[in-house]
Amino acid sequence: EKGEYRHFMEKEIHEQPDSVQHTLSEYLDLVTGTAKTNTIDFAAIDRIQIVACGTAFYAGQIGRYAFEKLAGLPCDVEIASEFRYRSPAVTQKTLAVAVSQSGETADTLASLIWCKAQGLNTAAVVNVHSSSMARVAAVLWPTHAGPEIGVASTKAFTAQVAALLALAVAAGVARGRIDAAREAELVKALFESPRLIAEALTMGDSIRAVVQDLAKADDVLFLGRGAMFPLAMEGALKLKEISYIHAEGYAAGELKHGPIALIDEETPTIALAPLDDVFEKTASNLQEVAARGGPVIMIAPEKAPDLHGAGIRRIHAPDCHPLIAPLVYAVPVQLLAYYTAVQKGTDVDQPRNLAKSVTVE
Ligand code: M6R
Repeated sequence: EKGEYRHFMEKEIHEQPDSVQHTLSEYLDLVTGTAKTNTIDFAAIDRIQIVACGTAFYAGQIGRYAFEKLAGLPCDVEIASEFRYRSPAVTQKTLAVAVSQSGETADTLASLIWCKAQGLNTAAVVNVHSSSMARVAAVLWPTHAGPEIGVASTKAFTAQVAALLALAVAAGVARGRIDAAREAELVKALFESPRLIAEALTMGDSIRAVVQDLAKADDVLFLGRGAMFPLAMEGALKLKEISYIHAEGYAAGELKHGPIALIDEETPTIALAPLDDVFEKTASNLQEVAARGGPVIMIAPEKAPDLHGAGIRRIHAPDCHPLIAPLVYAVPVQLLAYYTAVQKGTDVDQPRNLAKSVTVE
């Protein structure tokens, strides 16, 4: 039941402190401050191939940044509908990982079955633990988001990201890339995410203040760098799905290779700009947008420096460890889509033309 909430999506957005906490506890030990390294032999693999669709694909891309950075594990992420039909070249020490809320998505399941038939080790990050993917994969990596009713995925996405980030820490430890002090720091950061997600949930008022303009737009651009790039694409997908506004997520550094031509007074740009080691680069991209008259909504911590440029509006996000920024920034991204859809009066929980689970291709 929706309880005090107007839509299941709103309820599920607000459940994220709990669903992320619950999921993290599967992979990390809060008492000892360590990662559980025994779910798979991370030292025996030399590559990860993630397959997924839609929002789960973006969660996989966020996971990729963490597996490569923290564990030195080459990681590819591919849309399952492409992977399954293009005869991909895989090596025997590759771990194939399916990421899926339902565990039933036809293309993802077919890709997983194909990888298994190639003799690869397989794992499934799934929210429905009795699903086909959970049964097919050699290793089940559960998420604990609970049942997700809204067609637009929210809490399942952050649970997937939480699981993948925690697994990347475990992989880094198992492969000798992360020492005990760094492990403690990263585990602590991850366990801070439920509190910071809860803090991000209080951003509703400042987000409602910008959706009036957003709801009028025909096109919206989402920009980010690093793990904020896949989150930008997730933000664009969310906005498309429930508000029917055309949106695109781009790596901020790609701006001048094409999308900057779209910028005009009517095309808002939403920037995901945590204070990480690429903040300055993102900031200068935003100034380029503002200089061309494009309205900018910059989501960044309060202590981030002010940018010069007219038309840059700021929404303050909680300051956080860079590892968990995709979890914390997922909240404003979801709220933006949600309030824009409410403003437009669309059917938030049952968007037109979409099904919750895509079990046919
Ligand atoms: O159940 P799955 O995670 O495999 O579903 C994958 C996509 O169909 C799903 O994420 C879809 O993109 C959502 N509607 C996104 O909000």
